[in-house]
Amino acid sequence: MRKLLPALLHRFADGQIPSSSRVIGIAREGLDTDGYRKQARAALGEHPHLEAFLELLHYRSLDARADKGWDDFAALLAEWPDHVRVFYLSTSPELFVDICNRLGGYGLNEGKSRVVLEKPIGRDLESANQINDAVGQVFAESQTYRIDHYLGKETVQNLLALRFGNALFEPLWNAEHIDHVQITVAETLGLGRRAGYYDRAGALRDMVQNHLLQLLCMVAMEPPSSLSPNAVRDEKLKVLRSLTPIDESNAAHLTVRGQYRAGVADGQSVPGYLDELEGKPSSTETFVAIKAEIANWRWAGVPFYLRTGKRLPERMSEIVVAFKPVPHSIFNPEAGPLHQNRLVLRLQPDEGVKLWLTIKHPGPGGLRLRHVPLDMSFAEAFGVQQPDAYERLLLDVVRGNPTLFMRRDEVEAAWQWAGPILAAWAAGGEPPRPYASGTWGPSAAVALIERDGRTWSEDNE
Ligand code: BG6
Repeated sequence: MRKLLPALLHRFADGQIPSSSRVIGIAREGLDTDGYRKQARAALGEHPHLEAFLELLHYRSLDARADKGWDDFAALLAEWPDHVRVFYLSTSPELFVDICNRLGGYGLNEGKSRVVLEKPIGRDLESANQINDAVGQVFAESQTYRIDHYLGKETVQNLLALRFGNALFEPLWNAEHIDHVQITVAETLGLGRRAGYYDRAGALRDMVQNHLLQLLCMVAMEPPSSLSPNAVRDEKLKVLRSLTPIDESNAAHLTVRGQYRAGVADGQSVPGYLDELEGKPSSTETFVAIKAEIANWRWAGVPFYLRTGKRLPERMSEIVVAFKPVPHSIFNPEAGPLHQNRLVLRLQPDEGVKLWLTIKHPGPGGLRLRHVPLDMSFAEAFGVQQPDAYERLLLDVVRGNPTLFMRRDEVEAAWQWAGPILAAWAAGGEPPRPYASGTWGPSAAVALIERDGRTWSEDNE
């Protein structure tokens, strides 16, 4: 209701989804098609194409673990044997295998069928392998789309264009010229209605193992030979496999986990995480900061600081590439401080790119230095509304283009790195550090980067 139907509606309105298509909602809830359309109407709000779009919607009540209704569902799909079929499993990963087995049992994996798996795939390497093995019995890897919607965000794709469409950056894109990289995904939202899922997952599984690592890969990968799906994914995989391990020996030094308490978010008083769980004890983290490193020639010694959390002061996602300072300053102290160049890629809100440069303050009065951004806001520059990530990705599935989806080996490599961090936290037995809602996480996250003589980036530098 929040992400998928609006994405489909927008693509329908642009004529990219023909009216012979069907969108079939499936859940255990005992709804019918009319009831589903009613819910969709309420969720989608006013839109000039709403009525025509609602006509595409159908509903079937099914339980992955019970027989009832599956014959009827298979018969419904048999009405359109030649259509591309996309089975989008927006469910807990524990159900992926049951659902795929059902689909396979009815031969629904044949022909132009694809399955979309939402992250996280499993909760560790072992469960991810089990899921991938079992799903692989029914759907070939080429039919399996592991979605990470961060890869569909405009700025992430723009990173490819910036890095590989300009001669300017690539010669500087290495440990010789880059001081460090910061990746922040901050949310103001709290737990919402997702306690059942989130409390078992936590921020490392929910955000870092997938979204943040995928962003890191896009920054750090070698130039692929083409944009073909495997060329890009091969390069990302190499990055994941080059991440320096974090385990019991160094986790306390390189990671910080936090959990929000009551505070103020989006101008409103909000309860703490444990209050939302109604008193159930929990040591699930809602905030993580990590100093990651990539052990290869290009990146040796360049820290990648990752940070994500719920109930932070603003909804903001960005990648900051901080270049090394000039080797020697020719300016008098009165000219003011010299700042490092930074390339800031803003994913949301206000997608855009800023390149911070040092210039002379215009006018008389001696040479004073100013740090200013070359600023390209995509909305202003192109006057277009950015499509939501799901709009792009859902159509990629229909078209059969897996470039922006995670291949099995990528998911495994990401778990291989994330697993020992989770194990180290479990072994350490320390509860997550508390932070007040509406703040940038526990003070230890500030200490993590300041120990290295650096600070988390703010928009005005
Ligand atoms: C999802 C996570 O994958 O991404 C959520 O499960 C999170 O916890 C969401 O809120 C953030 O996505 P976006 O596009 O709103 O930044």
